[in-house]
Amino acid sequence: MIRVTISVPPRSYQAIIESGLLQRSGAHLREILGQRKQLFVVTVPPVRRKWGKTLMASLTAAGFAAKLLEMKDGEPYKKLATVEDLSEKLSRMGADREAVVIAFGGGVVGDVGGLLASLYMRGVDLVQIPTTVLAQVDASIGGKTGVNLRVGKNLLGTFHHPRVVLIDPAVLRTLPEREFRAGLFESLKCGVIGNPELFHRLQNLQIKKLRTDVASLEWMIAESVKLKAEVVSSDEREGGLRRVLNFGHTIGHALETETSYRQFLHGEAVAWGMIAATRIAAVMNKIDQAAASQIIDAVMSLGSLPRVEVRSRNIVQRLQADKKTRDGAVHFVLPQKIGKVEIVNNVPEDAVIQALNELRQLSRNS
Ligand SMILES: NC(=O)c1ccc[n+]([C@@H]2O[C@H](COP(=O)([O-])OP(=O)(O)OC[C@H]3O[C@@H](n4cnc5c(N)ncnc54)[C@H](O)[C@@H]3O)[C@@H](O)[C@H]2O)c1
Ligand SMILES: [Zn+2]
Repeated sequence: MIRVTISVPPRSYQAIIESGLLQRSGAHLREILGQRKQLFVVTVPPVRRKWGKTLMASLTAAGFAAKLLEMKDGEPYKKLATVEDLSEKLSRMGADREAVVIAFGGGVVGDVGGLLASLYMRGVDLVQIPTTVLAQVDASIGGKTGVNLRVGKNLLGTFHHPRVVLIDPAVLRTLPEREFRAGLFESLKCGVIGNPELFHRLQNLQIKKLRTDVASLEWMIAESVKLKAEVVSSDEREGGLRRVLNFGHTIGHALETETSYRQFLHGEAVAWGMIAATRIAAVMNKIDQAAASQIIDAVMSLGSLPRVEVRSRNIVQRLQADKKTRDGAVHFVLPQKIGKVEIVNNVPEDAVIQALNELRQLSRNS
């Protein structure tokens, strides 16, 4: 069992990582929540069908009266109407201020369940039990909650940290392979940002093996969680430092929006974004060619990615439009070497266009 502490004063909480943890989740929660009784598990049908019984049995065995609430599956349901609907259900089920919301699913459930917990009766306790690679290595840590608006993603949200994050890598067994791979890119991102050993382990990885190699999976998730926990602990609300977590996300987000979120899973868009950022760093002489090639090869070795067919001009325009909603500059997180990145605000447009042209080329040849 690996425990990682996330310190966000006045309170800190832990992420507990262990294969088989879901079956013991009731006992852990009893320890953390004391005599509280009312637990409300928010989930989606695929997760309930595969793992709902295991979780509910463990909660019941620990003496909790736990109830299940379902939302529809998928990013389109990450919207305020879902939070409202779940709130009505909570109320009808008798949830009061002492209620605890358990977000049991991928990043979508984590974000919706988190927002629900932060709003219901002006805030009730939250527990995160993430069930995708992306949610285990990234989304469940850091306290960000949110839903999408028609005009853009994640525009409505709060900070609401969970009491505990329970991470069971065994539940990843039922995750579709494409989702599994896509999540790994966020872990590789952590390696490039600040953990060379994690980078090298992922670089030499055979994904099929990893899916059944419990010890490696636990280690990889724990190292990613540690990195995010460190960054979040030192900079809870995203001043300077938290921005390093956006490595690969500047171009990644632009690719996602340009393709209306239909072509790439989030991790896949970030994968292309990491390649683009690395090429930009190389063009600007901020990283040596050998390290740049290592990063690009590592990304490509984690599996085939959907093709990039967007026009470079459109992506540049999207970055410009984004600028207004940020603070007047396009921030790029560029790698300096494996394990170190820097934030750069003055990337020339030419360098971006060149990198995008290279992405298209690379994606045609792969
Ligand atoms: N709050 C944050 O800090 C943060 C960080 C990164 C991403 N996010 C958000 O996370 C979301 C993406 O999360 P995601 O990639 O986990 O997608 P997701 O939640 O949509 O899950 C992907 C799919 O996998 C299914 N699934 C989940 N666990 C499963 C399991 N164990 N077995 C079988 N199927 C399973 C889900 O039902 C869904 O169909 C985005 O909305 C993104 O904005 C939030
Ligand atoms: Zn991401």
